[in-house]
Amino acid sequence: MTQSDPQDLNLYFAELEQEARQAASALSTPEAVEEFRLVWLGRKQGKLKQLSDSLLKSAAPEARREIGQRFNALKSVVESLLEDAAGAGPSDSALAAEAIDITLPSTRGLLGAEHPITRTMNEIVQVFAALGYSVGVGPEVETDFYNFESMNFPPGHPARDTQDTLVIANQERRPLRDRLLLRTHTSPVQMRTMEQQPPPLRIVIPGKVHRNEADDATHSSTFHQVEGLCVDTNITFSDLKGTLDHAMKALFGSSVKTRFFPSFFPFTEPSADVQISCIFCGGKGCRRCKQSGWIELLGCGMVDPAVFAFAAEKQPGYDPKKISGFAFGMGVERIAMMKYGVSDIGQFFSGDMRFLEQFA
Ligand code: PHE
Repeated sequence: MTQSDPQDLNLYFAELEQEARQAASALSTPEAVEEFRLVWLGRKQGKLKQLSDSLLKSAAPEARREIGQRFNALKSVVESLLEDAAGAGPSDSALAAEAIDITLPSTRGLLGAEHPITRTMNEIVQVFAALGYSVGVGPEVETDFYNFESMNFPPGHPARDTQDTLVIANQERRPLRDRLLLRTHTSPVQMRTMEQQPPPLRIVIPGKVHRNEADDATHSSTFHQVEGLCVDTNITFSDLKGTLDHAMKALFGSSVKTRFFPSFFPFTEPSADVQISCIFCGGKGCRRCKQSGWIELLGCGMVDPAVFAFAAEKQPGYDPKKISGFAFGMGVERIAMMKYGVSDIGQFFSGDMRFLEQFA
């Protein structure tokens, strides 16, 4: 080809354009489109680059204009071919290969659900929240001081034997009051809260507790409690009875009755155990209430002045001569077992999906 002959130039560029069009029409995959781009427009090895190097740069100045115009025309043809091919997306056959059947049922992920213990605990908390109680929490690994001493279980006192304790190992070098244990009840959070907040105080404390107990159908070494504490001027045993009677009706239905029996806890005086009329037989007597018509459900009492004395060391407002209060504590598993008809406490901790799915 002679560079200056327009005929030759026309033919040469027409052939190149034809070649590009043919190649572009065969592009069916994104990879092929990219390959096309490289072959034609690649910055180092592309055909157009080579063309410009061989033809354009070496052309005599008079011929440059002619060649340049044709070169630019070809370049924009190639660019628009590339644009069309890229925009067209994958070919029908490529699409068919990737197609999915949207009418097939999906593999469904399981939806999470609240654990029955969590649900029951929240329900109990809700009943007291509606009475104006706030919610408090404390650590599961507790000191001897908060779990026992400040709750009026002095070191060596036999009442400590009522809550067989799991202790953290290698604490012997610490003073007894600082030794760590797994809290046996939520009552230590009574003291932690009073140290932080002056009276009046109304608080519920849901949480996990641990005792060194052999597991059976009704006992688990790990279980949950909801604690309550109410402190103000002139709080009386009647307030305690009215509050718990209301709470039991809210939890088990308005026909439920309550009765209070003398009991003992180091941190309350007087102390009581609360029974509710049997929710299974309505009080007539059945297997579930051992024919008595009553079911024992929680412990409670008026806060012992010795407990207030410990709190008053940090918050002088807890002067037992000026204020009074009541406290209560209930086991969540026991209540959940009654509400949902669960006969083995171990089910709550088994992680067995067949059990848990029933609460979803
Ligand atoms: N902490 C007691 C227990 O675990 C329950 C309780 C709490 C009793 C508050 C009275 C007042 O057995």
